[in-house]
Amino acid sequence: MGAEIIASHGILVQIFLLFLVVGTLTPLLAKESPQAFRRWSLIYTMSFQALITMIAFTGVVALVIGEFAFSTAIMVMVVIWALMMFIEIKKYKLIKVARLDDEKTRKLLKGAFVKISVVQILFVVLMVVAMVLKAKGVISL
Ligand code: HEM
Repeated sequence: MGAEIIASHGILVQIFLLFLVVGTLTPLLAKESPQAFRRWSLIYTMSFQALITMIAFTGVVALVIGEFAFSTAIMVMVVIWALMMFIEIKKYKLIKVARLDDEKTRKLLKGAFVKISVVQILFVVLMVVAMVLKAKGVISL
């Protein structure tokens, strides 16, 4: 049972990574109007939160079932999870209240969107690499 749940956790992480990579293009989708950027940004954030919540859910279920002892790796995951969620909410709030009809502000925020996406991708890649190295016994987390 625990193995299946962690397999879904792993698959969800991969789907999430794919979403983050494709999502980097969000500012390009919103070319037609300032409001389109706000709209696409909302869709992005909702999808982001849905996926990351499913990741946390499968992780917590695996823990509750009790097949995994609490480890440094899990602590790191929880911290990364909270940090990613925090950054995403801050970013969305910024885009929500910004005066997007101002060209300069819009450009700035679109640039920030891409940079933040890259940071989020790095978090996930780092976590995946750490877990692969852990599974291979190269590092003990
Ligand atoms: C509240 C959040 C989370 C909890 C409770 C949690 C819990 C767990 C647990 C119990 C495992 C199995 C540990 C082991 O094999 O020693 C695991 C594996 C893993 N987690 Fe998480 N996790 C969480 C969030 C995340 C996040 C945000 C990421 C990615 C950024 C992530 C990536 C992974 C990866 C790549 C694995 C290895 C999967 C595999 O072996 O196929 N986790 N997680």
